[in-house]
Amino acid sequence: MEKYFAVMGHPIAHSLSPQMHKAGFAAMGLKADYLRFDVQPEHLQAAVLGLNALGFAGWNVTLPHKETIIPFLDELTLDAERIGAVNTVKRVGDRLIGHNTDGGGFIRSVEAQLGSFRGKRAAILGAGGAARGISFALAGEEMKLEILNRTPEKAQRLAADLRATGADASWGELPSELELRGIDLLVQTTSIGLYGESYPIKLRGFTQDTLVVDIIFNPWQTPFLKAAQESGCRTLNGLDMLLLQGCLAWEFWFEKEAPVNEMRVALLSAL
Ligand code: ATR
Repeated sequence: MEKYFAVMGHPIAHSLSPQMHKAGFAAMGLKADYLRFDVQPEHLQAAVLGLNALGFAGWNVTLPHKETIIPFLDELTLDAERIGAVNTVKRVGDRLIGHNTDGGGFIRSVEAQLGSFRGKRAAILGAGGAARGISFALAGEEMKLEILNRTPEKAQRLAADLRATGADASWGELPSELELRGIDLLVQTTSIGLYGESYPIKLRGFTQDTLVVDIIFNPWQTPFLKAAQESGCRTLNGLDMLLLQGCLAWEFWFEKEAPVNEMRVALLSAL
């Protein structure tokens, strides 16, 4: 019997998850399809009940539903529980299990370049949902974290949540100048650059030692990432994070390794 998967969010038109997952299904010869649903926040519960009633095997959840879907699920994995957000749902019998693969995807995407994580320093620009997933994953790898955000109260709250789990986390306001010496990993999680805007922060002290990641991948290189690269840093955009969170979701649904190469090719050709 054909299995059905989906992604729900609002807006959703630009999601590349269908292309990525369908390529994965095809590569593995699975009889499955993957749809895209635009779900308004006030219809979230009805949408969850609907997908469940229709027998969907699982789905992805994106903005703005990653936190608000939690009350409509039966169970959370430890990752979802720790982060307080869900990006993947699996139906097991009549139970809906919420999981989070954003952080794990991020870890997998940077580990080849960063090597080890433990005891290294990471600075996170932004304190929204994406920053939360990434910070908890990095804290799980025992990195030291500094959260910097335009609205400092949000950085403070995220740092406090991280510290409550035993992490080494400090916070501050997004500064007008940032000294990078001593920072092993800098992660840009805000939406600045989506429309080609230049970054409002001056970055100083760039070296080869800092890996700079911008989670945006469309445009392929934001002005922020371009500046970091021109200053000699190693850089990475967010495509691998998207790909590898998708692979982890795939593995959660099917309990086997995802065909990462085919899924990467599908993403690149969809861009
Ligand atoms: P996401 O889940 O993608 O992280 P979000 O939860 O809306 O989205 O978070 C957006 C992040 O980008 C926030 O950290 C936001 O800063 P505020 O908390 O101060 O709102 C940050 N952000 C968005 N536009 C920004 C801008 N022009 N300058 C600085 N930070 C910005």
